[in-house]
Parts: sequence; C-alpha cells; structure tokens
Amino acid sequence: MKILVTGGTGYIGSHTAVELQQEGFEVVIVDNLSNSSAGVIDSITAITGIRPVLEVFDLADYKKTMDFFQRHSDIQGIIHFAAYKAVGESVEQPLMYYRNNLVSLMNILEAMNSQQIPNLVFSSSCTVYGQPDELPVSEQAAVKKAESPYGNTKQISEEIISDTIRTSGLKAIALRYFNPIGAHPTALIGELPLGVPNNLMPFITQTAIGIRPQLRVFGNDYNTPDGTAIRDYIHVVDLAKAHVISVQRMIQSRMKKPFEIFNLGTGIGYSVMDVIRSFEKVSGERLNYIVVDRREGDVEQVWANPQWSNTELGWKAEKNLDEMTYSAWKWEQAYKKRSRKQ
Ligand code: NAD
Ligand code: WQD
Repeated sequence: MKILVTGGTGYIGSHTAVELQQEGFEVVIVDNLSNSSAGVIDSITAITGIRPVLEVFDLADYKKTMDFFQRHSDIQGIIHFAAYKAVGESVEQPLMYYRNNLVSLMNILEAMNSQQIPNLVFSSSCTVYGQPDELPVSEQAAVKKAESPYGNTKQISEEIISDTIRTSGLKAIALRYFNPIGAHPTALIGELPLGVPNNLMPFITQTAIGIRPQLRVFGNDYNTPDGTAIRDYIHVVDLAKAHVISVQRMIQSRMKKPFEIFNLGTGIGYSVMDVIRSFEKVSGERLNYIVVDRREGDVEQVWANPQWSNTELGWKAEKNLDEMTYSAWKWEQAYKKRSRKQ
C-alpha cells in the first residue's frame, strides 16, 4: 500500500517513513529540500533496507503537484508534514508562511479530490491551544488566538481541512504534537536545524558538543515548581508510530467521524531544568547555561491529556525523558563524527 509522505526528508517525516516501511507500507516522499537534505534517503535506506522514492519539488506549485498526483494515482493515503515551522521567522515573514503552509495544503486537498485519494494525516501542533485555561489540555480545549503566523497556519489548516471534508468524501486526522525531541536509536536520522536552533533540545546538544558557547534558559520566574517553563516533550519515534496507527485507522475504516483530532504527548510536563538535568545525567556532560529573561511569546506551562489518543487511537508514548535526551545526544555525536569524515 503506497503512502505519500510530504516533508519526508525532514525531522518527523523521516522517522515516520522508517516506521511506515517497517510496517510494510510503500513510501513515496515529496520534499523541496528547503529544510532538509536528500542524503536522508540514504539513512532511511540504511535503517530499513528499502529505498523510498524521493521526488523533489515545491508542493506550493500547483502544476507540479497535480502532475505528481497524476503519475501516482495509486497513492492510498497522505501524511502531510511539509511546512515551514520557525515561529520567529513567521513573525518576520508572515506571507512566506501563509503561502507555503496554506497553498501546499490546498493543492494537496485539490489533488486528493481529483484523484479520489481519501485519507489525509495532517501535522498540527499544541501551539493551537496557546496557554490553556486548564491543564492537562484535552482536544476539547478552546483554540486560542494564535501567537504567531506559524501557529495561525496550523489553526487555519485545520479549518480548511474541516470545511473541505464537509463537501467531499475525504477523511482526515489532525495530530496535535506537543514538543517532539530525540532521534532514531540508530543515530542515522535526527533533528538537523539550519543555523542557530530555536528549540531547546538541539540547543542543548549543540552547546554540549561545542557548536554553541552557552545555552540561555529563558526565564526562571514562572509560576512553576523550579521557575522554568514546562512542556510535554515526546520522543520522535513515539510520534512517528502514531502516524502509522492513524493511517491504519483510516484505511481500515475505523474512524468515528470524517475529521478526527488527537493530542500526541506523554501527559507529563517537564521544566527546562528537568530537561537539562536529564541531559547531564545521560551524557555525563556538564552543560554551560545561564538564566536570562523570558522569551517573548512563550507560554508558561502546557502538557497534554493523551487519554483520547490512548483509548481511541490505541497509541501511547513509551519512551521517557532520559531516553529522549540520550537519543538526541547520540545523534549529535554521530552527526559530528560523520561530518569530520566528509
Ligand atoms: P522539518 O522542517 O524538519 O520538515 C519539514 C519538511 O518539509 C522539510 O524537509 C522541508 O524541506 C519540507 N518542505 C517545507 N515546505 C515544503 C514545500 N512547500 N514543498 C515541499 N517540501 C516542503 O520539520 P519537522 O519538525 O519535521 O515538522 C514536520 C511538521 O510537523 C511541520 O508541519 C511542522 O509544522 C509540524 N510540527 C512540528 C513540531 C516540531 O517541534 N518539530 C511541532 C508541532 C508540529
Ligand atoms: C521549549 C522550552 C523555552 C530554547 C515550539 C513552537 C511550537 C512547536 C514546538 C511547532 C521553552 C525554553 C528554548 C532555548 C530555552 N512547534 N528554551 N532556551 O517554544 O515550546 O514550542 O516548538 O509546532 O509551536 O513554538 O519549544 O523547544 O523552543 O522551547 O530556555 O534556547 O525551552 O523558553 O520554555 P516551544 P522550544
């Protein structure tokens, strides 16, 4: 069964391609390599022994997208990861974000309609909840006004999907990820941010390996036990597995309604200091960090209520924080080794 993974050379897409192949799916990847490299295909092949097809083009290009789908009319489902994801950059360049993230989604939905491909899994984000009124946050929580154009693209995308489904035979599952971190246990694929990382985990590993001089902890005056902000970190392999389960749910017609939404988190909130301590423990490294002012736009604390995903989707995160930080560190070390050889 052929599944299209858009953004499949990226961080979460590559891990999902591996899990799909290991469950017997045929994987076709479309990526324009704007935030990843074609070499990831070699790494996926090294892990699974199966080389996924890669087509390099921009999904915001209507003609190329339609042409692709005409040539691959036997695709049974699509997992749509391809999007820009840097919150700060989206504030600086909102139109670039709206165009890329929304136009590519609309092109895919049009192609699904015309080729009668019924199944879509969409990458959404816990960012749609903002600072929730109640914790842990369930799928029923209000969607708050987006803090950034990036966050807004996720909210609007969910609405576009919901409206489209109302008048077509399409089905979709939106997965709202909390904070994905870590890497594949082989250390052959992982997170490769371009330039200075925005996110905590790659900043920690890049600091420990000597690429960055110091980690800045953004605020220790939050109303949390140790004063630093709290998130629900989730291992990327656990996250990838939820996509395979979602595809199977759609194909086996187990959906309760045509558009379903699931939280993907562990249900446990960890502070920035918890992550640093876990990293120091598993790596044996002492991390150079200082506490600075809060980062603008950050919420104080958010973690998932994963009950609905656990019971209805039949998925549960398995890996703990130490496993996440350990795999991230192994990946950073392996990447350095490979770069030296080149
Ligand atoms: P990533 O940047 O590693 O992967 C996205 C991939 O999509 C990249 O390989 C990029 O080259 C490709 N791409 C972007 N625009 C494209 C286009 N127009 N045409 C073709 N390819 C295009 O990001 P990721 O962390 O793997 O995130 C995947 C998805 O999950 C994104 O939609 C992101 O918004 C969402 N998400 C990510 C996180 C996170 O913290 N990483 C959290 C919540 C949601
Ligand atoms: C985690 C915590 C920071 C960097 C972002 C997006 C969100 C989603 C996931 C896509 C926060 C602190 C960070 C640093 C730090 N992505 N931190 N020093 O902000 O929860 O979420 O990624 O949908 O939409 O906003 O993740 O990893 O940036 O931060 O102290 O150098 O680490 O303040 O408390 P965030 P993050």
